[in-house]
Amino acid sequence: MFETFDDIRADIAARLGQAAADRKSPLHTLVVATADADARVMVLRAFDADAWTLRFHTDVRSPKCHVIGAGSPVGVLGYDRDAKVQLRLRGRGRIETDTPLVQQAWEESNNYARRCYLGDGPGALSDAPTSGLPDWAEGIQPTDEQVMPARENFAILLVELDSLDWFHLAHDGHVRAQFVRDGSSWAARWVAP
Ligand SMILES: Cc1cc2nc3c(=O)[nH]c(=O)nc-3n(C[C@H](O)[C@H](O)[C@H](O)COP(=O)(O)O)c2cc1C
Repeated sequence: MFETFDDIRADIAARLGQAAADRKSPLHTLVVATADADARVMVLRAFDADAWTLRFHTDVRSPKCHVIGAGSPVGVLGYDRDAKVQLRLRGRGRIETDTPLVQQAWEESNNYARRCYLGDGPGALSDAPTSGLPDWAEGIQPTDEQVMPARENFAILLVELDSLDWFHLAHDGHVRAQFVRDGSSWAARWVAP
């Protein structure tokens, strides 16, 4: 089934494309690790298979955005339990706030999703348990006008992948392959699991 490097790289691309489109995919939520040894779950919003680039949505005020900035290393981890495939991906992260792609992502979001960016920034301290949202925004879908101030907090994280580690669990022997970007192509090798 997975006999060649081309098969495996195609499997990784197909899995990421499917994961972005399907909320039920086990890879729809991925663990995103930053250079400060922190990691968090994020929703995979898009995968550009030509550029091997992942897109996530986030709040520009969150600590990870300060760490990632315009080109810091990012690790991405996911496990597809049914397929028994682990993906360990690495690349350069980039936070964007005012490019056409950010505007497009914002326009494609609904007002429930936009509402998340209305409140206090992630990590802001509170004296009591809080959603961080202003009281008036709790439990409602705000109007276009009401969510307008949230736009300035909305950002995208792009991760341009430059190394892929594919691990397939199997009773008759696990298999693991690694790929490193080499210009416009990928160098591939088998490694012990
Ligand atoms: C299932 C799930 C999905 C999440 N999706 C996102 C996401 O798409 N973007 C995001 O910024 N945070 C997301 N979060 C919250 C992050 O895990 C994290 O707590 C938050 O972004 C805090 O920012 P920091 O990692 O910069 O401290 C998600 C959390 C969970 C549990």
